[in-house]
Amino acid sequence: MRYVPVFFAFSLVMVTACGGGDSASGEGQDPAFLPTEGAAPGGGGPLGAVPVPANNPLTAAKVALGHQLFFDARLSADGTRSCYSCHQNEDGNGGALPTAVGALDRQLTRHSPVIWNVGYMPTFYWDGRSGSLEAQAKGAWGGGNMGVGADNLDAKAAEIGAIPGYAEQFEAVFGDRGATAETVAEAIASYERTLICDNTRYDRFMSGDQDALSEQEQSGLELFNGKAACATCHTAPFFSAQFATEGGIYYNVGIGVAGVPEDQVDVGRMAVSELPEDWAAFKVPSLRNIAASAPYFHDGSVASLEQAVRYMAGPGVANKNLTPLIMDRGLTDTEVDALVAFLGSLTCPGELVAPELPGG
Ligand code: HEC
Ligand code: HEC
Repeated sequence: MRYVPVFFAFSLVMVTACGGGDSASGEGQDPAFLPTEGAAPGGGGPLGAVPVPANNPLTAAKVALGHQLFFDARLSADGTRSCYSCHQNEDGNGGALPTAVGALDRQLTRHSPVIWNVGYMPTFYWDGRSGSLEAQAKGAWGGGNMGVGADNLDAKAAEIGAIPGYAEQFEAVFGDRGATAETVAEAIASYERTLICDNTRYDRFMSGDQDALSEQEQSGLELFNGKAACATCHTAPFFSAQFATEGGIYYNVGIGVAGVPEDQVDVGRMAVSELPEDWAAFKVPSLRNIAASAPYFHDGSVASLEQAVRYMAGPGVANKNLTPLIMDRGLTDTEVDALVAFLGSLTCPGELVAPELPGG
């Protein structure tokens, strides 16, 4: 883990987040990318600008504060988990374990997803139960991930806000509102809105750089859009249908049902919608950074990308709600290899950089 001074951290994460370079000075960085008061990052890339809610404008100082909070384990119930703990660079900014283990060693039921481009998502979690990044941050912090308990968030925020170094920043960013559950969540959400992955080799290829993809990767791209029909659900540019819709799109693709008694299956989206057609349906995750973020699926049940691709190009696991869009695509081994190679071109060039933390 690299540590850089707090005041460099902001420009650094912007640099790494858009893949513009690796120097801590931010040299060569397009200044238009840096959010000034109210302006959203990502404006120049293929994904467009990140939507920013009117009640939580993006400012450089708020992003810098959120960046520190995201990395600070003192936010958790027992001081063992920061947000970053389960969204680490080494794991493609998803989780290493099949299913995450939260603060107080609580075993959770799902796999930590990749958090690049979450600023563009309409809903959060594998079942889309959270409607904003601010709400999601409070959910993760109060729930099993960080273990603080929803009722204790304001007290924990006050504790954090009293640490010298944080106190001044909360004052500068939020004035009289100070450090509360709301302001902590707003700062973290703001930082997350700067985590943009829009400069992969695929993106360079699409913007005209023919050499950005090998021949094998290009044939994988063709298969993805054609014979293998992956693009039906994993639609460019996010490689998820999720982003284009208001409430998200959820499918039962047969993951998490094999060998599990029906009444013990994770019902996924059905817990939110209460609709039987959402039984064991999960969102279509983005495939950006997929090669870096094993293991796969909402239960982390598949260890390698090749296995995940073979599963998705196959007939799935029969169950009472399997979507008819999952079927055997009849791919050869060469075609599977090409698909896997293509997915490697979606690896995000950026990484999250650990800031120096106040009082630590
Ligand atoms: C113990 C591991 C753990 C910690 C700590 C953790 N997360 Fe997560 N995160 C997860 C898991 C697991 C999920 C998926 C949960 C689900 O779908 O039910 C998730 C989901 C998310 C998502 C939704 C992504 C998506 O694709 O829908 C975001 C955003 C996120 N976390 C941010 C955070 C923030 C912010 C914090 C700190 C406040 C945090 N995480 C702390 C494990 C963790
Ligand atoms: C019917 C829509 C649909 C189609 C078609 C589809 N997928 Fe998926 N894909 C999903 C859903 C939904 C999930 C999440 C399932 C879960 O975890 O329960 C998923 C998950 C994945 C994952 C794991 C992602 C992660 O973050 O763990 C990979 C890799 C993947 N799909 C690749 C592909 C490929 C390659 C194809 C084409 C052969 C394909 N998919 C076709 C809907 C689809």
